[in-house]
Amino acid sequence: MGAINAVATLAVEGDIGILTLNSPPVNALSQQVRDGIHKGIQQAVADTAVQAIVLICEGKTFFAGADITEFTQGPLSPSFPEMIDAIEGSPKPVVAAIHGTALGGGLEVAMACSYRIAVPSAKCGLPEVNLGLLPGAGGTQRLPRLVGPEQALDMVTSGKPIDARTALASGLIDELIPEGELRNSAIEFARKIARNRPLRRVRDMNDKVAAARGKPEIFADFRKANARKFRGFLAPEYNIRSIEAAVNQPFAEGLQVEQQLFKELMQGTQSAAQRYVFFAERQVWKIPDVPDDTPIIPIKKVGIVGAGTMGGGIAMNFVNVGIPVTIVETRQDALDRGLGVVRKNYERSTKSGKLTMADVDKRMSLLTGTLELERLADCDLVIEAIFENMDVKQGVFAKLDKIVKQGAILATNTSALDINDIASVVKRPESVIGLHFFSPANVMRLLEVVRTRHSSKPVIATAMQLAKKIGKIAALVGVCPGFVGNRILHARTLQADAMLLEGAMPWQIDKVLYDFGLPMGQFAMADLAGLDLGWVKERSASATIREVLCEADRRGQKTGAGYYDYDEQRHPSPSPVTEKIIRDFAAKSGLPQRQLSDQEILERCVYVQINEGARILEEKIAIRASDIDIVWINGYGWPVYRGGPMFYGDTIGLKHVVAKLKAYGPKLGSNFTISPLLEKLAAEGKRLQDAAG
Ligand code: 3HC
Repeated sequence: MGAINAVATLAVEGDIGILTLNSPPVNALSQQVRDGIHKGIQQAVADTAVQAIVLICEGKTFFAGADITEFTQGPLSPSFPEMIDAIEGSPKPVVAAIHGTALGGGLEVAMACSYRIAVPSAKCGLPEVNLGLLPGAGGTQRLPRLVGPEQALDMVTSGKPIDARTALASGLIDELIPEGELRNSAIEFARKIARNRPLRRVRDMNDKVAAARGKPEIFADFRKANARKFRGFLAPEYNIRSIEAAVNQPFAEGLQVEQQLFKELMQGTQSAAQRYVFFAERQVWKIPDVPDDTPIIPIKKVGIVGAGTMGGGIAMNFVNVGIPVTIVETRQDALDRGLGVVRKNYERSTKSGKLTMADVDKRMSLLTGTLELERLADCDLVIEAIFENMDVKQGVFAKLDKIVKQGAILATNTSALDINDIASVVKRPESVIGLHFFSPANVMRLLEVVRTRHSSKPVIATAMQLAKKIGKIAALVGVCPGFVGNRILHARTLQADAMLLEGAMPWQIDKVLYDFGLPMGQFAMADLAGLDLGWVKERSASATIREVLCEADRRGQKTGAGYYDYDEQRHPSPSPVTEKIIRDFAAKSGLPQRQLSDQEILERCVYVQINEGARILEEKIAIRASDIDIVWINGYGWPVYRGGPMFYGDTIGLKHVVAKLKAYGPKLGSNFTISPLLEKLAAEGKRLQDAAG
């Protein structure tokens, strides 16, 4: 066995060369790995004893793609095309032996080989689209030749990997190998095909692409069917164009189209944002003062106080992963209603085929309802999810303190109250933490884990680990009004409300935000949530536009009218009634009306968010800028291709943001001030990403 370089070895067993790569953690195709493959293939080709070559990886996976950390560096030799050409140009057949995940450049390497074999647990995919890219090493040209353009379109635009059996059925791989026997079976397979000539090359396989030629409707229909999903993203369209080139042009020309489109995407801001998010999603779990070896509190049973919409949704998260939940209500009818809603939610999943009725029954059997708080005594984690009232919450925590076993975590789902104050009523404040789920709690991916002054490290570590277990993405934040997400939303709401009084209509502001890439605008969102959230009829004094709307029984979607008018299907349309209410309100307040430009609306809405994020960093409420972005992407639908408000600020330049905020000056409100951190970073030419919270 000979070492090729630090990550590659070539062994020769009889007439087979076995080129093995080992570059933890995921065998990403770094310069060194590419070099190992390139030289290893050349060496095997030069070895007269070798008749066929097996390409295989050690560790947990086959190559998981290009090394994303190298994308910002200049060209490093050997390039992807040089490596791919070495494999495909080999005069001896090369067999890719796949385990784990063959992703992106990894699958492209496999497709440059003559044959692909895999263990049943392996997965194959081209996830470049998730990084705002397309497969740039021939993937868009070879995949449709193997699986046909329809499946290729699905794979490259969804980025979702397929399992080995599906890959076998669709022609992507040639044979399934029993688990644990990959190396030996690959050698055996290589012996079988060693003398097959002419050499099999995917680039020469034209049947499947030729069959789609002259059928532009394949692409037109695909674009139409996915228009909503792809809105705002460049990469899906570029992937489609590249597959179109594979169908309509000879291989070499298609490859050139792919290269050109890849380059454009790589140089654009969308891919930069999406690559940033890839690392942000991994970074968010890392907490500088809570080391990896912090003891974890085993969570075998969860208690939830409150069976309302939040309580029920939270319960589903735990039941879904097999953790039994006891849910407490104060009245039987409320409890029955809460459990009924959970069952209905599960039953809805049977209609889409996600669950069977047996699954539903099993999950419901893990959920116990009770009226007695004492039943939570043996829970390892109790989450309070009742309405937002400090006295009532403190009352519940004081009782839980007496009932629940020592060592258990006592959590609150509050989105508005000071958790330090809640924790002040218990004798074990170190066990208290905030778990701020977003509604619907069984669907939304974000969880803000809120540490108090006293939350212990094991409590924090356990909350983060549990979040992962229930499929959430968690950001650790500190206590402040609104925490990270709602605090930044509040900053935007103030601007949007102010602009209504200056002459913009809700639908103009919403359209600007929607066109920016958000799933819905400020006022459409308010209508959805209900304008009467926190509104008390008896105390209503027509003090805000929102109050006037509620007084007119325009309380949002549920009453058929709010900022917008709604039809039977809840489709919104601009409302002359709302317009009159706003104009009258502004006139009464003596505020002059003017036409606001879309640019002003966007800048005021978004730049104040960037400013609020900087304040959050300044106050050390968030650990890092990218955690704030994770919150806004996963909790509020901030477009991934803009990387989150902090990344967006960095992209357009903090100097520009500060200059604009200063130019808007008093319009931003008497309470608005520019974050000193933002000003400092702008003056130093730095980015929010460079600032630690
Ligand atoms: N490049 C660089 N680092 C990578 C990487 C990659 N392609 N893939 C994973 N890593 C790093 C992660 O950042 C993480 O680092 P950390 O421990 O320092 O945080 C470590 O490897 C482990 O990754 P995960 O935590 O994600 O491990 P999992 O076991 O949960 O998942 C995986 C493994 C499924 C391979 C997942 O990491 C993944 O999806 N990776 C990205 C795959 C991808 O997008 N490939 C396409 C790259 S673009 C490309 O190939 C372009 C080509 O067409 C030219």
